[in-house]
Amino acid sequence: MKSYTNVKDLGNLQAAVQEALEIKKNRYAYKHIGENKTLLMVFFNSSLRTRLSTQKAGMNLGMNTIVLDVNQGAWKLETERGVIMDGDKPEHILEAIPVMGCYCDIIGVRSFARFEDKQFDYQETILNQFIQYSGKPVFSMEAATGHPLQAFADLITIEEYKKTARPKVVLTWAPHPRALPQAVPNSFADFMNEANVDFVITHPEGYELDERFVRNATVEYDQMKAFEGADFIYAKNWAAYKDPNYGKILSSDRSWTVSNRQMAVTNNAYFMHCLPVRRNMIVTDDIIESPQSLVIPEAANREISAQTVIKRLLQNT
Ligand code: CP
Repeated sequence: MKSYTNVKDLGNLQAAVQEALEIKKNRYAYKHIGENKTLLMVFFNSSLRTRLSTQKAGMNLGMNTIVLDVNQGAWKLETERGVIMDGDKPEHILEAIPVMGCYCDIIGVRSFARFEDKQFDYQETILNQFIQYSGKPVFSMEAATGHPLQAFADLITIEEYKKTARPKVVLTWAPHPRALPQAVPNSFADFMNEANVDFVITHPEGYELDERFVRNATVEYDQMKAFEGADFIYAKNWAAYKDPNYGKILSSDRSWTVSNRQMAVTNNAYFMHCLPVRRNMIVTDDIIESPQSLVIPEAANREISAQTVIKRLLQNT
């Protein structure tokens, strides 16, 4: 594997999940393969889980790790080519990226959608510049349109907790006070479409995701109907994708907050969310604190998904 940006980079998905579960049984078994190798993690945006789990994954593999918070202590970076740099950004990303590549063997990048230019976001301009100009294997730590480390961890978690061979998995939109990118729901859909699950997406009209991620999923606008018989509920907010509303909040309907009302019609479903989560906006306290909540096991599996990906990048398989 030369880079990791979406589900296809994993090849056989079931084999990748099995590899991850083997790593989880003995996460220090591959400590030799990262010896004298350096992992650089570049953050353009904040993080708790990705930062800690990815650094831990690199250390499990024997790597040295460096974290760069671009907006705290580094030079402000210009990202547009052709700009006359007479403003407050003294360095261009096209020099900064190859320089970063000089000091490491693998680079992880977090760079969210900006919602200023849909094409800039959906072409994954920043992530692809790292792939093109760093000279090193690059993996996404959540980019503009995807969060494949999260979705891989989510699939590992579903594999661990599922009670039937083909569970019903529902991705539901839920309200949020700020406009959030589509990266997490995009990647979750990307993975669920390749997994052995019955996959349903539910959201208010206007929140349709990019068809390239929705693919074969059933889209159901009635949330209660979508939840019927579900084995896993995956909640997430996202802002509108479709033009002319890209990046906008179209609804703040609190009836979409996941609560006992909706969970009652499921097959005693597990509740999932990538975190951080706004309680009583996305999900009620009693659901996230219930025995059916998998939010902590999901977060724990972020270490395993990252370790599987970094191991493969180190082995260049
Ligand atoms: N789920 C996730 O990526 O969490 P962080 O934003 O805290 O890294």
